[in-house]
Amino acid sequence: MAKKPEKKEIETTGHSWDGIEEYNNPLPRWWLWTFYATIIWGIGYVIAYPAWPLIKGATPGLLGYSTRQEVARDIQTFKEKNAAIEEKLAQADLTTIADDPELNSYAINAGAAVFRTNCIQCHGAGAQGAKGFPNLLDDDWLWGGDIESIAYTVRHGIRSRSDETRYSEMPAFGEFLSDEEIDAVVQYVRSLGGLDYDADLAKEGATVFEDNCASCHGEDGTGDREQGAPNLTDAIWLFGDSVEDITYTVKYARNVEMPTWGDRLSDAQIKAVATYVHQLGGGE
Ligand code: HEC
Ligand code: HEC
Repeated sequence: MAKKPEKKEIETTGHSWDGIEEYNNPLPRWWLWTFYATIIWGIGYVIAYPAWPLIKGATPGLLGYSTRQEVARDIQTFKEKNAAIEEKLAQADLTTIADDPELNSYAINAGAAVFRTNCIQCHGAGAQGAKGFPNLLDDDWLWGGDIESIAYTVRHGIRSRSDETRYSEMPAFGEFLSDEEIDAVVQYVRSLGGLDYDADLAKEGATVFEDNCASCHGEDGTGDREQGAPNLTDAIWLFGDSVEDITYTVKYARNVEMPTWGDRLSDAQIKAVATYVHQLGGGE
């Protein structure tokens, strides 16, 4: 049988709870030295690096380190690295960018970054669009899908504040047409788009269309890019293809805005994002 330690051998703190006493053992050496080391390290850190919060910022620390400076330095490095190709892009003729593989791949990457920052909130992360915001992946273009048209749209916007913005305004036909005429023309539009429709109403609607709509959407409904008037004969509907959606469009018109980017993006950035959008799949 193991010998019980003598009471006197180990010092106690003198605390006793229900007869259970607390030994007063020294702290383990390794633990104590680690503890001292962390204190010394902590003091060193406070002296060397930004530490104590002040009203604005913090104590700077002897080494003058700042994460903000670090980022600024990185950005500067990349700017200098890319300065030459950025300049080349700014000077380049849009239609010849694709012939220079290095410039083209730089433009696509830089354009994708511009797109992620400025365009996805409306056009979607994959440029797939949403109701009221056109899909930029398909080959259905309101205002033109060649690279120069795309760059123009980006630079000046649509119904936006640039003096040279693309502009057209579909009238709100609720003011000019009776409800019956609107119901009829909606059925005619559905017939153009290959949706189910009421044949009698559509026949009446054809006349309404010719008198009121053909000037922009064309006699055959295939649209007009000069006026940004959509093709009504395809399966792509910017504002929805239900009877309710089309009726709303005709009654109140939509006339949505795409912002002007010419005063917010550099020339190189506009060319880059136009190159990016153009190569997404629908570019002409
Ligand atoms: C605030 C929302 C918004 C933002 C941000 C936005 N767009 Fe648009 N964009 C629109 C709308 C709305 C239209 C359609 C306007 C119309 O009906 O004519 C459009 C149309 C376009 C078109 C014309 C499509 C066609 O079929 O002709 C292009 C190209 C385009 N946007 C590119 C961009 C790019 C590139 C960016 C980022 C630099 C961007 N857009 C940012 C809302 C936006
Ligand atoms: C002055 C030119 C103009 C006239 C006239 C006009 N439209 Fe439009 N229409 C447009 C434009 C531009 C758009 C798309 C841009 C927008 O509204 O934001 C459009 C959009 C539409 C759309 C939405 C298509 C989609 O993809 O969702 C429908 C439907 C439509 N028009 C039907 C008509 C009908 C029906 C008439 C006649 C009663 C008519 N439009 C007359 C210019 C016109």
